[in-house]
Order: sequence, then C-alpha cells, then structure tokens
Amino acid sequence: MIYAAITGWGKCLPPAVLTNDDLATFLDTDDEWITSRTGMKERRISHVEVSELSAVAAARALAAAGKTAADVQLIVFGSTTFDEMCPNAASNVQRLLGASNAACMDVNTACTSGMYGLSTAAAMIKCGAIRSAIVIGAEVVSKMMEWSNRNVAVLFGDGAAAIYLEASDREEGVIAESLGCSGESRDILSVQGWGTKYADKKRPFGNTTWQFLGQDIFKKAVAGMSRACERVIDKTGINIEAIDLVVPHQANLRIIDTLTKKLKLPPEKVFINIERYGNMSAATALVALVEAVEEGRVTPGCTILMPAFGGGLTWSAHLLKWGLRTQPLAQTDIELPPNTRTGLEIVNSIRNPA
Ligand code: ACO
Repeated sequence: MIYAAITGWGKCLPPAVLTNDDLATFLDTDDEWITSRTGMKERRISHVEVSELSAVAAARALAAAGKTAADVQLIVFGSTTFDEMCPNAASNVQRLLGASNAACMDVNTACTSGMYGLSTAAAMIKCGAIRSAIVIGAEVVSKMMEWSNRNVAVLFGDGAAAIYLEASDREEGVIAESLGCSGESRDILSVQGWGTKYADKKRPFGNTTWQFLGQDIFKKAVAGMSRACERVIDKTGINIEAIDLVVPHQANLRIIDTLTKKLKLPPEKVFINIERYGNMSAATALVALVEAVEEGRVTPGCTILMPAFGGGLTWSAHLLKWGLRTQPLAQTDIELPPNTRTGLEIVNSIRNPA
C-alpha cells in the first residue's frame, strides 16, 4: 500500500494588514460588530498576484521537505482567484519555482479548493501515477471583492499556503476523506461579474456584485461540515477522542463554535487563527494547518480532522495522520517583492482605480 505523506509545509501571507477600523473608514461598520459576529480583527491584502504568493509558499514547503523544485511531479493549485484563466495559475507557479518536471492543474471549489486539491494529489500518489506533489491553497480575494458591500467586504482576506506530499509506505497523510457539494444551493453564495457568463455586460472585470445569504450559508456550512466529519468518522471507525487536533476552515468563529458543539469536540483541540486573517477562502485551511505545525499544535504521529466548506456549496472533511517530523528540514530565504503600501491604501486603489 502506498500512502501520501505530508513532509513539507509553508505559507505566504502578504505583509499589508487591513484592520476592522480600516474597513470602518469606508463602510458603515465597526470593530465591535465584526469582532462579535465573526471573530475577525484583521486580514491581509496582497500587493502581488496570487501565483507569486503561491510560489513563495511552495518554495517554503519544498525547503521544509528538504526537496528541490526538480523533485516535484505535480502542482495542484486550489483557488477561486486566478491571475489568468489561460494558461492556468499552476503553470506560473511551476515557472516561478523552476519545477519543470511537474504536471500542473488548477482546482476551483471555492474555499475547499486546497482540500479538494489535497484529495486529488494524494489519490494520484496512492494509485502510483506520481511519487510527489505540491498542493497549494491560495487566494487574492481583494481583487474581486465588492468593496462597497459591508455584508461581504469585512469577511475576507488574501493569503497562500502549500504542502509537499510524497509517496511513503508508512501509514500517514490522508487516511480518509468525504467530499461533496450541495449544488441546489449554489446561488446563496455567488460572485456575479466573475466569469464568461458576464462577458457581454458593460462592467469592468473584477467589478463584482456578491449574492450572499449569510445566515443560509452559516446553516448549510455547519450541516455540510458535520455530515462530512461524521462520514469520515464512520468510514474509519475512529473514536472522536482519538482525534488530537481539529483544523477547520475559518469563515466565522461562530460557525466553528457551532460545529465544535454539534460534534462534541473539546474546544481546546480546535485550532483557530481567524482573528489574524479573516476568511482567505482556498488558502484558509492550509494556512491554518501550516500554523498549527509552526505553533507546535501538530505533534509527531497525531491525528487531525479538517472540515471545510465553500461556494458551490462544496463541503469536505479530511482525516490526516501526521508523520514523525514536525520541524522543517531546511528554510529558504525567498521573499515576496517589497511592499510600501498599507492594506487600506491597496484596497483604496482597487476601489478607486486611477
Ligand atoms: N457591519 C455592521 N452591520 C452589518 C455588517 C457589517 N459589516 N454586515 C451586515 N450588517 C448588518 C445587516 O445589514 C443586518 O442589519 P439589519 O438587521 O438592519 O438588516 C445586521 O447586521 C444583522 O445581519 P445578519 O445577517 O443577521 O448577521 P449574522 O449574525 O447572520 O452575521 C454573517 C452575518 C457574519 C455574514 C454570518 O451570517 C456568516 O458568517 N455567514 C457565513 C459566511 C460564510 O461562511 N462565508 C464564507 C463563504 S465561503 C466561500 O467559499 C466564499
């Protein structure tokens, strides 16, 4: 039996910070509302394109695994915000990394894209088609945000994370997963103006209108993630006490709390970083996993449950077994190009293009 071990991990958060108070300078909102309804205090805004963020995260994951770009046989780029539709974003990551032996694909399932990407790459390793892969979850939501709509503009941020997978004969990596989609509810979260359907309309690309029924999404998110978790638990027969750490998608602290109670998970086992980044869509779950490793929450051989949901409405849960190593083998000095603007200045330039 071949397994797909996670042997490298890296993240890339753009340096510019957008606080709740920054949002209140152009929206009818305030820090108290955002904090109490969502748990978010600040988020990052990217000064570069999504594939540049991703290439830095991927280089860090490669270094952590002690590998070089030539070792990568597949790049799966999970996102909803591609810097180009054709060629795909994974091919740009390949070029930026110099990973010329890698096949390249993009996966778009909104916030679950990184997790669907993980399933795709792990399955290809387990069936013997490839021996290694980089899986990326990345998003520059700021470029497609409807910045005048307080219902959505306060919720999202930019970021990227990557993990390196390699074939192993030890039982580790993805042990089981459950993936699904409630397509009949796809209209409760739709970004209008972002796709060829809108190409004949007289609006500039990126000038979007979000159809976003927050309370419906909330309920379906809890239902979808708990269903996926229960399926994974049933499939593996694992006892809930045997789960060492839960790393959920971070869309709203109250969604996480409701899910935690519904599944009777001890809150101290749940990793949360939403206050720092908001919802980074496809990047969220993998950034949280990387930070859980960096903060010592992932211990050698531990069992991790990762529930997620996103537009579509897609949902997923993964049961991971971590390997024996939680320290990176090496580090890279690769960095993003320097940024001189604040988060608010970048957002204002998107809101009011010159
Ligand atoms: N600041 C101040 N007031 C606001 C804001 C804001 N930023 N946004 C909305 N309000 C107002 C509303 O207009 C409403 O006012 P009204 O009562 O006068 O009409 C009031 O606050 C209450 O709004 P609710 O919708 O009842 O607020 P709720 O408690 O449901 O919280 C929220 C809203 C945070 C959006 C919540 O429903 C939620 O988190 N839903 C899920 C969101 C989510 O998961 N998104 C991820 C999408 S995944 C992807 O793939 C992109």
